Amino acid sequence: MGAADSDLIRRAADAVAERLGSLRPRVAIVLGSGLGAVADAVQSATRIPQSAIPGFPEPGAPGHKGELVAGTLAGVPLLVQSGRFHLYEGHAAEVVALPTRVFARLGVETLIVTNAAGGIRHTFRPPTLMLIADHINLMFRNPLVGPVVEGDERFPDMSDPYDSGLRASARAVARAEGIPLEEGVYAALLGPSFETPAEIRMLQRLGADAVGMSTVPEVIAARARGMRCLGFSSVTNVAAGLSAQKLSHVEVLEAGTQVAGQLERLITGVIKGL
Ligand code: HPA
Repeated sequence: MGAADSDLIRRAADAVAERLGSLRPRVAIVLGSGLGAVADAVQSATRIPQSAIPGFPEPGAPGHKGELVAGTLAGVPLLVQSGRFHLYEGHAAEVVALPTRVFARLGVETLIVTNAAGGIRHTFRPPTLMLIADHINLMFRNPLVGPVVEGDERFPDMSDPYDSGLRASARAVARAEGIPLEEGVYAALLGPSFETPAEIRMLQRLGADAVGMSTVPEVIAARARGMRCLGFSSVTNVAAGLSAQKLSHVEVLEAGTQVAGQLERLITGVIKGL
């Protein structure tokens, strides 16, 4: 049985629902590397270890916790996934997208994705927060490949992957709160090695502003289920070859921590307006 199996999605959703009590989450937030602090803002939190959910593997990437946190933010019921699954860990795309399909099954209508990314646009100096306007899928994987999963659309429209209304709301919150917020295109690569300078020059020419190794599988699965998406990249380093500095995951985690508070205020502001 694969991770895209509708029976597994149902069993995983039932396991989560059992721990939710009367909470009916409307929003799900996926946290990127170093952004775990966002989960600490959740009120009346119930922590659900991912190991208790059928089909959810143990999280492997450092800086990812491995739990779903259920509760409220600004009074809105939600789920926070602290510990996402990455393709570079060896997981199939449908495993990476399993939490998204489970959220949809639980009635979640809005998916907020966050990630750490390398900055390609010349003006991006870490720490910078970037609202994701669009993405380029260079992972060469797609969670929708294979027989159509019950509840998915075969050929989902991807012309507004990051909902324009939610992006306008994020910009308005950033302005009101005085939080610097850039906007740009996120390119997703398989990883886990960072890019070479030649690859970064290629991505620049393709129109990418930031580069990372996540997010796209979740957004594709969410769009196939009609969920609205909003995405933020925390630019934790200048991409390879654009500065003299070598890249390290430690640097990524540290820079992520610096903007986690701003990200939490942005997300809370957007959620308030839903
Ligand atoms: N490249 C890819 N993924 C990343 C980077 C990067 O420079 N920084 C954080 N995640």
